[in-house]
Amino acid sequence: MALLPILRYPDPRLHKKAAFVPRVDETIRKLIADMAETMYEAPGIGLAATQVDVHKRVVVIDVSEDKTKLLALVNPEILDRSGEQVCEEGCLSVPGVYDKVTRSERVRVRALDAQGEPFELEAGGLLAVCIQHEIDHLEGKVFVEHLSRLKQGRIKARLAKQARITA
Ligand code: NI
Repeated sequence: MALLPILRYPDPRLHKKAAFVPRVDETIRKLIADMAETMYEAPGIGLAATQVDVHKRVVVIDVSEDKTKLLALVNPEILDRSGEQVCEEGCLSVPGVYDKVTRSERVRVRALDAQGEPFELEAGGLLAVCIQHEIDHLEGKVFVEHLSRLKQGRIKARLAKQARITA
C-alpha cells in the first residue's frame, strides 16, 4: 500500500469529471487500498479518487468511531433521496475550512464493491452526507461550491496565502 498525495482546492484537477469503471480489477483494488490508507492517515472519513488525481468513479468512506467499517464504492449512483439536513462539512482537499451545507437526509445508493459485486445501501445522517460529498467530487464538485460566491472567494484567498507560507 502507499500514501497518495491529495490535491488541494482550488487545483483545477479537482473539477475533472471521473470516468465510469468498466471492470473492478487488481488496479482498482490497489487504488482502493491506497485510498483507504491515505484517508485513515490524513485522517478523514471519506476520499474520492478525484482527490488523488485518479479520475475514476471510486470512493472510500469510513464514518465509524473505531475506523473498522471501510466502505468502498465503485460507480456509486444515488437511486433515491429524501428529506433535508444541514451538516458542517470539511474536506481533505480544503484543509482548515468547515461550513454548513444542506443535503438530503437519506439516500439509497447502488455501487460495486471491491470484488466487483453490485450492492445497495440505505444511508442517513453522517453517512448520507459523506456519500453525497464524495459523489460530488466524482462530478468535479468541491463542497465549497455549495457556499456563496463571497465565501468561495474568501476560502480561495485564504488557501492561496497558506500555500505561499508552506511553500
Ligand atoms: Ni472532500
